[in-house]
Amino acid sequence: MVILKQPDEIEKARASNRIVAEVLSVLREKVKPGVTTLELDQIAETIVEKRGARPAFKGYRGYPYALCASVNEEVVHGMPSKRVLVEGDIIGLDFGVYHQGFYGDSAITLPVGRVSGKAARLMEITERSLQAAILHACPGNRLGDISAAVQQTVEAAGYSVVRDFVGHGIGRDMHEDPQIPNFGKKGRGIELKAGMILAIEPMVNEGSYSVNVLSDGWTVVTQDGSLSAHFEHSVAITENGPDILSRLN
Ligand code: MF3
Ligand code: CO
Repeated sequence: MVILKQPDEIEKARASNRIVAEVLSVLREKVKPGVTTLELDQIAETIVEKRGARPAFKGYRGYPYALCASVNEEVVHGMPSKRVLVEGDIIGLDFGVYHQGFYGDSAITLPVGRVSGKAARLMEITERSLQAAILHACPGNRLGDISAAVQQTVEAAGYSVVRDFVGHGIGRDMHEDPQIPNFGKKGRGIELKAGMILAIEPMVNEGSYSVNVLSDGWTVVTQDGSLSAHFEHSVAITENGPDILSRLN
């Protein structure tokens, strides 16, 4: 069941997402060779506490950290550790906040120092696929319009979209209906309505879309070892079109 939000509820979700955006913008400055992913996790948690909010992922199904930090062939749900980032890595940072009854959720993938042209292109296309999808988040469109926009952008560039993990509705729960696959057909699926909040999150592999979960029970990696990138925004559908709640401004 898809839960529609009133304008005052969308404002609360915006406040949560604003904290997420602030954290990601701070982390953007901190990501460089020599930093550990655990240091990034601690920075994120400190900011959220200062804002009187709660990191949404910590404790979720037993997940032990505030941040998901996924390096290179890690797709999503990488666990912060003493791993030191090195020049040429790419790192996906996924962060969520719970505040005043509403969840916010957003992710970015960043270069560590100078990266290869192919790593840079993968990140650029993945972010572009998210932007293309967001343009379809309007009342009267179909969920499949969003999915198809991601898939077309990604596959036209020669990459693949991960099948095993999907975007989601978000609000008073972190994961609400509908599920939002990053592949699908235009014109199919439920009708989009004003008041929906969607966490749209393309996960894009350089090679095949097949993934494995490591023995830590969390870290998702590409099966072929190729690079992967992930971007996510929480987007409210309004009569005036998409409203990106997890944008900094
Ligand atoms: N950001 C993820 C999502 O969109 C949630 C991370 S799983 C967690 O579903 F365990 F880390 F919370
Ligand atoms: Co999400």
